[in-house]
Amino acid sequence: MSTPSQHSHTALMAAAARAAHLIVDGQPTIFADTLAEALLGSSAEELLGYHRAHHDEPILVNLRAQMVCRSRFTEERLAAGVAAGIDQYVILGAGLDSLAYRWQRVDRLRVFEVDQPATQQWKRQQLAQAGIAEPETVSFVPLDLNDGQLAAKLSNAGFDASRPAVASWLGVTMYLSQTTLDATLAAVGDLAPGTELIMDYVLPKHLRDAAGQRYAELIAPAVSEIGEPWRTCLAPDEVAAMLQAHGFEVLENVGQSDSIGAELWNRDDALYPSELLSIVRARVRS
Ligand SMILES: C[S@@+](CC[C@H](N)C(=O)[O-])C[C@H]1O[C@@H](n2cnc3c(N)ncnc32)[C@H](O)[C@@H]1O
Repeated sequence: MSTPSQHSHTALMAAAARAAHLIVDGQPTIFADTLAEALLGSSAEELLGYHRAHHDEPILVNLRAQMVCRSRFTEERLAAGVAAGIDQYVILGAGLDSLAYRWQRVDRLRVFEVDQPATQQWKRQQLAQAGIAEPETVSFVPLDLNDGQLAAKLSNAGFDASRPAVASWLGVTMYLSQTTLDATLAAVGDLAPGTELIMDYVLPKHLRDAAGQRYAELIAPAVSEIGEPWRTCLAPDEVAAMLQAHGFEVLENVGQSDSIGAELWNRDDALYPSELLSIVRARVRS
């Protein structure tokens, strides 16, 4: 697997779905990524146009639901961690994640964005073009996770491995091999006890519902064609076993439906949960 020379297109699709949630979906809002639209740059009109024109189309509905649920889940847990004293946040495969530029509590949090070099460079251009300043609290860590070296690169960027952190890994594991998953989990599992990891993963076919399977049948070949093939699907018990083997205890391992409060599914729009993407939160054991 060679390191891509082009930026990730799935990162753009994910940000477009978060931006579109604020435009085409109703109430209650699940997640307010108020910078996502600006980060789409010259692609905004085209990508948001699809969501506007086909807002009830099941694949786009499914995409928006997945993106906003996992972001809400993650930022809620991150906020709890920060309230408990955590001040370092590592975003693995950050794409156009905008937390570092949007979060009110950001002055108390050092954010380390890890991504493929080409995607990270493009993101920084998107930020500049949108007039969004890079705060001093954000550090960019260009790294292909297939190359290993996560711990060393984080340390070079100023990460303090002696203190616990929160790490997120959203929309990435499906694009990686089992070898890279294990190497990355080994590196995160070696961080200070109490460090929390939040990661999502694609369920294997037999655990998907009909909506999840429809989405997978359409999206997996499409992303493969643009050079970002799904490589790994995982069952919840496989994920739990992997995490335990790398020194974690599993705190939550939930499907999309349970990843947000039940009241948020009482909606006036087309969003509904599907079984395709699950999310797990685990803590490095002492
Ligand atoms: C679907 S996007 C998700 C982006 C972001 N986490 C989000 O939720 O919007 C996948 C991200 O994973 C990154 N990625 C994929 N393979 C990677 C690798 N081997 N090393 C580092 N980052 C990788 C891509 O560059 C891209 O930013």
